[in-house]
Order: sequence, then C-alpha cells, then structure tokens
Amino acid sequence: MKVNLLLFLAVGALGFSACTNNSKQTSTSNTDSDSVSVSKQIMIPDSNNFKATVDGKQTGLFVLKNKNNFQVAITNYGGRIVSILVPDKSGNLTDVALGYENVAGYQQTGEPYFGALIGRYGNRIGKAQFTLEGKTYKVPANDNGQSLHGGPKGFHAQVWDAKQVNDFTLELSRISVDGEEGYPGNLTVKVTYALTDDNAIKMDYHATTDKTTVVNLTNHAYFNLNGQGNGDINDHVLTINASRFTPVDAGLIPTGVLQDVAGTPFDFTKPTAIGERVDADNEQLKLGKGYDHNFVLTNSSTDLKQAAKITGPKTGITLEVLTTEPGVQFYGGNFLDGKLKDGKGGAVYAHRSGFCLETQHFPDSPNQPSFPSTTLKPGQTYKTTTLYKFSVE
Ligand code: BGC
Repeated sequence: MKVNLLLFLAVGALGFSACTNNSKQTSTSNTDSDSVSVSKQIMIPDSNNFKATVDGKQTGLFVLKNKNNFQVAITNYGGRIVSILVPDKSGNLTDVALGYENVAGYQQTGEPYFGALIGRYGNRIGKAQFTLEGKTYKVPANDNGQSLHGGPKGFHAQVWDAKQVNDFTLELSRISVDGEEGYPGNLTVKVTYALTDDNAIKMDYHATTDKTTVVNLTNHAYFNLNGQGNGDINDHVLTINASRFTPVDAGLIPTGVLQDVAGTPFDFTKPTAIGERVDADNEQLKLGKGYDHNFVLTNSSTDLKQAAKITGPKTGITLEVLTTEPGVQFYGGNFLDGKLKDGKGGAVYAHRSGFCLETQHFPDSPNQPSFPSTTLKPGQTYKTTTLYKFSVE
C-alpha cells in the first residue's frame, strides 16, 4: 500500500504545477488573474485515516497514478473511489470526486454510496423480491419497500481483498457467500481498477457463481467537474447517447415501458445543461425529485461505446463514460442534503452538489422479462467494462 499524504507536484508532463500547505481544495478558476501558474496543493486524504478493522478485516487507501500524474485514490472498504485528481483547463489539479476524509465517513447512517462498488444488484428490485427457477428470493427492503443497491450490507459496505499490481492497477476481489443479503449462490467477484495512459479509470468487472443468481455491478462515484465541494452541478453540460429511458412509478421502479426522450426533459442527445430543465413541470422529474432515471443506450451492443459525456464549465474538465452495458442511471444528487460529516477538505455535500452516471443493466430486470437479462448461471462468466475518461475542453 502506498502512503500518500500530500502530493507535491512539480511542473510535469501536463505542464501543471501544484504544492504545499492549504489542506482545503480550492479549484482555481481562470477568472482569477493571480492563479494562472500558481502553486496549489491538492490533497488526497491521509491514508492513516483509512487504516481500520471492519468485520475483522483491514482497510486501507491505495493510490494509483499514471505517467501524466493523473491520480486516483481507492479504499478497499466498499471498493470506493475516494479522490480523482485531474488537471483543469489552466493545468491546475482538481479533485472531481465527492468523498470523505476517513473510513468512518463512509460508514455514516444515510451515506449515499459515495464512490462505491455496488452489488450484488445495482439499483432497485421491486418489492424486494424476485423469482428464479421457480424459487422466490427475498432481499432487503431498504428503500420504501424496494431493495436498493444490494441491501445495507451490499458490496459497498464490505471489505474487499486488495492487490496493488503496479502503480496504476488495483485488483479487488471477494466471495459473496450463498445467502448474503438474500441472494443465491456463492459469487466470486473481481473488479480491476486500472488507469490508462489517456487519463481514464478502466473498471473491469468479473464474476462467476455456483448457483443461478442475478448480478448487476456498477460504480457509484459522485462527480463535480468544477471541483468537489464547489457548488452544484446544474451548470454541467451533459450528453447521453440514449433515445429512450425507463420511466418509473412512485417507488422508482421501471414501469416496463421504454419511452422516447424526444420532446421531454430527458432528451440529452445534444449537449444540454442539467439545470436547464431539472425543475420542469414533468411527472417523471417529480417522482425522481429531479433526474434519477435509467437511460437505454441507443447502441445496444456489448461493445465498448460512449454512454455519456459531461463538462464542468468552470474548469473545462470533461468526463466521458464508456461501457459495455446497455444502460446508464443518471442521478443528479437530488437526495444529497449537506448533513453528513467529514467531507473532504471540509466540503459540505448539499442538494445536487454531485452527479452519478452508473452504467448498468436496467433496474428491476429480475422482475421484468422484457429487459436484458441479469441472470447468471454456473458455468457462465459475468464480464463488463466501464471507463471514466477525463480530458479538458
Ligand atoms: C439511485 C437513487 C439513490 C442513490 C443513492 C442512485 O443510484 O438511483 O435513487 O437515491 O443511488 O444515493
């Protein structure tokens, strides 16, 4: 494990400079005339704050870095992305991931899955049950009678076995035992986080089972491309390559319809600011308290394809999400309320201060035969890939 407290970054391949002793991250905007080439310190949380014992297992913080000094910190508690440091349009390093200073931050009641690996089933299962091969399985009803993100002790709250393979690759693995959170079968899971040379976080998910089960794995990073802790994300300009989405009922369970986005506030087929229509008079937006919906990617192949692209206008930092999955949940941080403690650098995560683009199979697929299947049988291999790729526009 690498101990990486302060990152003293000299002018490097990307021509940015950074360093020293203000522990609070302050993204420098190009309107600040003093800031063009100022030294700035960006801090990854103290790795000592991630040394803990949870369920008898050791947690820690792992720092990955590529040759461009693109840096990502991950804890094996929940496989969570803690920090993502990327240069903005002026070359200043900016942390674009919401997160906490320590493991305890991630264990707070109501913690909204910051940066986490989600499983065994990402998003919701209606009425917290499903039937497989004639047998009905009950899973935790932790969200208004529905099951959300694998239950309270889902993959986000488990300590993963971690192996840092090299400077830029971390392998996380665990066995989710038969019956864990109600799911059948021993599921052997491996997730590899690897930084590419073109500033992407590549996530490879792999799983096998010894009994028929359902699997839908994702990452739940919350981003603010203007810098985490720097206001809301309504000014971010978003494109989603989806001509349809899955409208939901009051429990946020898909109705089963695939609805055209054309003519609705869900049309992000052309770059559009999130805030432009988020409070429009629209029943689906009311049900989600804003955007909290699964988009059906227009390219339905299992090839790696672009799902979404989004830019923070204050920094120019752009995130592209590429995936082999058929859907992406665009969640606009509607339930963030600024109440949780230990936000990085003193950040307070208020309403809509971060967004998620969770690549996935559609919510409630185990109960929706018309949706692409999430069933995994013995002898089959679950294999998906998603990339979060960063650049500047
Ligand atoms: C869901 C939201 C939920 C959030 C948890 C998202 O994936 O779609 O409804 O509130 O996760 O913080």
